[in-house]
Amino acid sequence: MPLLHQVLLDLMSCSKNLPESFTIADFGCSSRPHPLLTVTEITSFIYKRCHELGRSLPEFWVYLNEFSGYDFNTVFKSLPDYHAKLKEENGPDFRPLLYISAVPGPCHERLFPSKSLHFVHSSSTLNWLSQVPAELSDKENPLINKGNVFISKTSPPEVIKAYRTQFQRDFASFLESRSKEVVPGGRMVLTFRGRTTPDPSSDETCQLWDYLGQAFQDLIEKGLIEEEK
Ligand SMILES: C[S@@+](CC[C@H](N)C(=O)[O-])C[C@H]1O[C@@H](n2cnc3c(N)ncnc32)[C@H](O)[C@@H]1O
Repeated sequence: MPLLHQVLLDLMSCSKNLPESFTIADFGCSSRPHPLLTVTEITSFIYKRCHELGRSLPEFWVYLNEFSGYDFNTVFKSLPDYHAKLKEENGPDFRPLLYISAVPGPCHERLFPSKSLHFVHSSSTLNWLSQVPAELSDKENPLINKGNVFISKTSPPEVIKAYRTQFQRDFASFLESRSKEVVPGGRMVLTFRGRTTPDPSSDETCQLWDYLGQAFQDLIEKGLIEEEK
């Protein structure tokens, strides 16, 4: 949050007034704990700051992004309660005007028109890969990562490299798409899960996936699922 506030302060100090329609996109918004958690933080911060500075308040166009199979209905059904809660907490005159839409699709691809976004946010999403690295699912000659569902201590270096390459491909593609969509002078706040050691196979990163891999291994040994799957 302090970083988010700092970026918003910086944005507001660079121009006298924000655009009349201020566009915010949240990539990989999810619905938990609430899809508009960060959006509320952004719009409330701008609202308060505009109030303090005697500036006019923009209208907010909010775009929520998730995969196309995502249940956006649940999000939209929660909106009346959300608006009512905002009014209850801030009084009936509370007025950041929010126009909320869903933009489904993989965030590694182009999803918005050129120069249309003022603020991009994404939290704990860009560490998700768009696919299993192609080298591991090659039908003819797949890289073998035996007994594992992700990088593990027993993974060969080529497997670790394949995951890294996939991340680099996906992240570069996300940045390339946003570089076209964000207006000049727009801002982006991206939050990632990280690790405290350079070793990608440390327990901190892999233990959970190791347990999952072991559980699958049990199912394979009992003949309940095929190893290839
Ligand atoms: C761990 S949740 C984070 C949710 C929320 N941003 C937060 O910080 O609490 C990651 C979300 O990103 C979505 N996601 C992952 N990869 C995505 C992609 N390529 N495009 C759109 N959404 C994606 C997932 O469906 C999931 O809901």
